[in-house]
Amino acid sequence: MTRNLQNKPSSLKRQAIEHFRDHVSSGKVAVFEKYGMDLVMGRRQGSYFWDLDGRRFFNLHCNGGVFNLGHRNKELIALLKDTLDELDIGNHHLLSQHRAELARVIAELMPGDLDYTVFGVGGGEAVDLAFKVARAYTGRASIISARGGYHGHTGLALAAGDEKYRKPFGPSAPGFVQVPFGDLNALASAADIDTAAVILETIPATLGIAIPPQNYLQSVRQLCDDKGILLILDEIQSGLGRTGKLWAFEHFQILPDMVILGKGLSGGLYPIAATILRKPLESVFHDDPFIHVSTFGGAEIGCRVARRVLEISAARGFLDRVNFLAKCFADKIAPLRDKHSDFLTGLRQLGLMMGLELKDELCGPLLTKAAYDHDLLMIFANNNPQVCQFLPPLIMDADDVDWIMERLDEALFSARQLKALVAPNNTE
Ligand SMILES: Cc1ncc(COP(=O)(O)O)c(C=O)c1O
Repeated sequence: MTRNLQNKPSSLKRQAIEHFRDHVSSGKVAVFEKYGMDLVMGRRQGSYFWDLDGRRFFNLHCNGGVFNLGHRNKELIALLKDTLDELDIGNHHLLSQHRAELARVIAELMPGDLDYTVFGVGGGEAVDLAFKVARAYTGRASIISARGGYHGHTGLALAAGDEKYRKPFGPSAPGFVQVPFGDLNALASAADIDTAAVILETIPATLGIAIPPQNYLQSVRQLCDDKGILLILDEIQSGLGRTGKLWAFEHFQILPDMVILGKGLSGGLYPIAATILRKPLESVFHDDPFIHVSTFGGAEIGCRVARRVLEISAARGFLDRVNFLAKCFADKIAPLRDKHSDFLTGLRQLGLMMGLELKDELCGPLLTKAAYDHDLLMIFANNNPQVCQFLPPLIMDADDVDWIMERLDEALFSARQLKALVAPNNTE
């Protein structure tokens, strides 16, 4: 189906784009212009947002989980408003009832002795702190991460990521090693007596929703135990119910030494991130409890919101619904795969953590553009463009599944046509 995408942007939108070009990022404006995507976010509610000119999109990206509970979740907004009548950021040097309460709820919802939480503002900061704890606790320096994994763009998190993200920015922090995700032998060869920690996303999202091979995470846990290495699981995207269990690592029956949370913990409203530690690890702060601080980390307003996010996400009915929706998508994506088999080759899925597996690396960007043209925000995985991430809000209406599938079907047709234009010898 061809659609009229020729509407001229309003002056309001044009002005926003010009100001963005002149004062935020000329490069981003150039990229979006190149692909004919003049999207500027305007109104937003639930699973949808509208661009400044009123065009509606279904959010199948959710900022990697920030909008798990939808845009402008009404209950969380009411709570935030009430909280503003009473609290502010608080003082990060002092004891805090609200940080204590949130940390207690997290500990209750975590298995084993994952009892302590250090709060941060963003995910990268929370990852940095995990590396600091691992080094202080083990007295070792080296950190192993997965090639193509992603843990943020702050100092140490950046060093644990792929070279392309750090190359222009000068010398990288020493002590980081990368191995292919899922390759236990490579990990075993890289791990030595100086390895402090292994960090993995339980389901690496930027790597294309890579579902770990059978027994991989259990074997990684065993290897870490055997060699005295700490295991850090980054659940910034996979946690909080996304996979149909509260924590993705529950699918693999393992207990990590540290867990990283961010994104969705904010309820999409107030930034907060967390590094959760097994009880013995908290000892690294005994000598000097002020050795790590974060002015806005665990801001008290955000603690209230995050606590409610956790209560909502942990509820049995909520998780049952995630699993129900996951099955609906699995059932409806299968026939699309048959219909568009020269383009859509598979579905990577754990609950509503989904990735559309495509024929080749050209397909991800093409489907992203075609989906945009059909009112779906869906983005290819940056470290594996052969996969389009498919991450609906967990609170989405089940009635929207059919509507999304119709749009996706049309988008797949368009993407195949685009592919025939841009790569005529590569369409089979
Ligand atoms: C798995 C994962 N870890 C860490 C981060 C970094 O989080 P932030 O952007 O809040 O620093 C991200 C962000 O996309 C992420 O997806």
